[in-house]
Amino acid sequence: MQAILVIHNLIRWAILVFGAWTLINAFTGLISKRAYSSADNKSNLFFMIFCDIQLLMGLILFFSNSWFDKMKAGMGDVMKSTTDRFFIVEHGFMMIIAWILVHVGRTAVKKAEADKKHKKAAIFFGIAFLLIIVSIPWPNKAEVARPLFRWFN
Ligand code: HEM
Repeated sequence: MQAILVIHNLIRWAILVFGAWTLINAFTGLISKRAYSSADNKSNLFFMIFCDIQLLMGLILFFSNSWFDKMKAGMGDVMKSTTDRFFIVEHGFMMIIAWILVHVGRTAVKKAEADKKHKKAAIFFGIAFLLIIVSIPWPNKAEVARPLFRWFN
């Protein structure tokens, strides 16, 4: 499970890099009225791929790393513990919403008329990116704090 945790930790950075790249493309495209290009498509495709891998790793951690057992034992106790509530309810739920927004966003951008693509990308990927940022267990998040980088030990 340590390997999955290391990967889950590292992929967060790939998501943040490709998410930021996607948003820079969307907002600069919107402002300069530039045509939607294959570079725009590539940045949000990688954003989506890393979100997909992260969801898979997150689900493995959730079902194998005692979190699911705690949930089965009773949600009353889970909700009383800040750490358990964060990882079992808030983190997973918010990240799944973000993952859905990234997928719905890709379809919406694909279907949109040429002059609306950057706007759709900015809205869908922007909200997903915000949800991801606020749901990461950053080192300053008191009881749920996790390291910025993790390696095998
Ligand atoms: C964009 C999506 C996500 C990001 C950026 C993200 C990020 C992170 C980070 C940075 C950690 C701390 C890793 C460490 O301790 O080194 C973590 C832990 C965790 N994540 Fe995620 N996560 C995402 C999605 C999910 C999803 C969808 C689930 C499950 C449904 C999930 C379940 C977990 C669990 C259970 C832990 C605690 C692991 C443990 O200590 O056992 N994550 N996540």
